[in-house]
Amino acid sequence: MGIQKEMYLEAQKYMVGGGSAGGRFNATLGQPLYMDRCEGAYLYDAEGKRYIDYHSSAGPALFGYKNPRLKKAALEAMERGFFWGYDTQETIELARQLCRIIPCAERVRLVNTGSEATLSALRLARAYTGKEIVIRFEGHFHGMHELLWYNHNGEGDMDSVGEIRNVPDGAGIPACFGDVVKNVEFNDFEALERVVERCRGKTAAVIMEPISYNCGCYPAKKEYLEKVRSLCSAEGIVLIFDEVICGYRMRPGSAQAYYGVTPDLTTLAKAIGGGFPIAAVAGKKEIMEMGGPTGPAGVSGTYSGALMSVMAALECAKMVQEPDFYDRLESIGNALYSGIDSLMKKHGIKGHVRGVGARFGLYFGVEDPEDDFNWRTVKKKFDADLNGRFLTGALEEGIYFHNYGTSPVPAHNGFGIAHSAEDIDFTLDRIDKIFKRIR
Ligand SMILES: Cc1ncc(COP(=O)(O)O)c(C=O)c1O
Repeated sequence: MGIQKEMYLEAQKYMVGGGSAGGRFNATLGQPLYMDRCEGAYLYDAEGKRYIDYHSSAGPALFGYKNPRLKKAALEAMERGFFWGYDTQETIELARQLCRIIPCAERVRLVNTGSEATLSALRLARAYTGKEIVIRFEGHFHGMHELLWYNHNGEGDMDSVGEIRNVPDGAGIPACFGDVVKNVEFNDFEALERVVERCRGKTAAVIMEPISYNCGCYPAKKEYLEKVRSLCSAEGIVLIFDEVICGYRMRPGSAQAYYGVTPDLTTLAKAIGGGFPIAAVAGKKEIMEMGGPTGPAGVSGTYSGALMSVMAALECAKMVQEPDFYDRLESIGNALYSGIDSLMKKHGIKGHVRGVGARFGLYFGVEDPEDDFNWRTVKKKFDADLNGRFLTGALEEGIYFHNYGTSPVPAHNGFGIAHSAEDIDFTLDRIDKIFKRIR
């Protein structure tokens, strides 16, 4: 029995499913992959095997693992006391930087996780509008709370108006929460318009991932986003961009700068802390100030704005504003995406890569890139079997793509600033071998 198997057996005696999060389970292995250490673009598992990382631990590792600048920031925080429930000069500076970088940000509230950020954004929107309904989009994911955890993986029936029946993404979600959640298809403006019409006067917010990396890489069409923006403004609905994954992923202003469409509120997490637990809700002053102590809505937490996370996040904010940061990410992305596309062609593998910034989906079985704009079409065409064989080959060859084992569409993968041209060459060489075996 290998070390991994032994650790799994031991871990299951004390930890649910042998892992500290459901998402640690890797369906390719049939267990979590236990690690020893990580550095730059590399993960080293408990047996010392090295992998080039294309998971980025679900997103935070945009700056590479054990980034020396983040380490320095964290050590400085350790020296100063590492935790206290008070703000500092650095907290103010971090908020100032976020307001500078993110177009919609006039005020910021720090929280710890993406789930807290989306929960807080909805509370602020409801407090501001005095309304309750939230409209979300099929396939998108906003965290594991009752307010929004519907129809990420499950496909509900669609009625003649275009409203899609709620399918909770797990057990334990009381039906009453779903009463104020409506789902529609992304990129179908008329469907959204009809559902808004049906819920006229009752809708607090429309929330979306402007690029839903949680569906691989499922981007909004620009014209669609512009229309959604106008509709929300006309109807007095708070438009929320959940940029928990998008944040910093492509040019610092994230998806809202990429599209030139400014939401009322945005949620940020993952890359903004470079691996330290920090998240934020940010947006228009009058909506943000519905939060305490300026307003009646509670948005607070013991660990909000913890010094170590703040100092690391401040260093991340500096790094994304340095002149060559995104040029480098884009050149890595271009080499990787075009390289995998060429290898698919070379081996006659149906599919393509879609990547925006430093995150991408591998669309095995989906030949027409136009299909990527529709979750149901991708779900029908996605070749899960081929994807599974690719992921098995990748693990063997020392390139790490995570397999949650739950998604009916491509997973989200990513890289970071620590990936070198040599790492990409190595990766493409290994993918060439894998494609040869699985085609
Ligand atoms: C778009 C989006 N929103 C919210 C969340 C929840 O973030 P967290 O896992 O930090 O609670 C995630 C997590 O993957 C996410 O991808």
